Amino acid sequence: MKRFIEESAHFLKERGFEAPEIGIILGTGLGQFVDKVEIISSVSYNHIPNFPTATVEFHTGKLIYGNLGGKKVIVMQGRFHIYEGYTLQDVSYPVRVMRELGISKLLISNAAGAINLNFKKGEIMLIDDHINLQGGSPLAFKGVGLLGTRFTDMSAPYDAEMGEILKEIAAENNITLHEGVYTSVVGPQLETRAEYRYLKIIGTDTVGMSTVPEVIVANHLDLPVAAVSVITDECDPENLAPVDIQDIMDAAAKAEPNMVLLFTKLIEKL
Ligand code: HPA
Repeated sequence: MKRFIEESAHFLKERGFEAPEIGIILGTGLGQFVDKVEIISSVSYNHIPNFPTATVEFHTGKLIYGNLGGKKVIVMQGRFHIYEGYTLQDVSYPVRVMRELGISKLLISNAAGAINLNFKKGEIMLIDDHINLQGGSPLAFKGVGLLGTRFTDMSAPYDAEMGEILKEIAAENNITLHEGVYTSVVGPQLETRAEYRYLKIIGTDTVGMSTVPEVIVANHLDLPVAAVSVITDECDPENLAPVDIQDIMDAAAKAEPNMVLLFTKLIEKL
């Protein structure tokens, strides 16, 4: 895998991705953040050697390099999910490439359902910890030891310092920022009522279909990571209305300005 990563990074360097400091992965319906970036270079995923190819129609599927808040950033506009048929290694591959290019921080957003019913649609949760229910590990492959330690520590997977800064920014700007546990599932089907009850019992605050593989790989690479869930639906098993993906996209779009503000100000302060 090492040679593949180097090849992808080399290609991107030649396209002007010279010295990125911060990587940003944007969740479904959360691509507007890119408007804040003064773009230097932009490449479609399907042009990058060894990159998993983008397929899902919601994704514009581009890697963007540019200036934001006085920093050089790489933004993944659209991410890969295992429900699209990619492996856990595929979905986390871009994190390895961004690290190879030189990022020293990673920021992630996702669209998620609220299992904690104190959280409302349109609000944001800082992910403090996670539960992996995707049935595998992005580190379970031959040769992982060549890229970092196999038995990666996960006692504090999310960077406390960036978390504190995000909480300060939220308070200063009157943004509700909850804190809690994100559980990743495979999808693409939404959960049953029994599954929502189960997720609550095991300690889930928000549920979604992404983020955890990328966070595990960031920890494997000793790369500090901060992540937030944008709450797009409330998962009350006792009053469950059918979930419409368009509602999820609309809710993400509504909450997006707050997420953009949190990330933009965080980048300025890093
Ligand atoms: N479940 C899983 N993934 C999701 C949800 C949900 O309720 N909402 C947004 N992504």
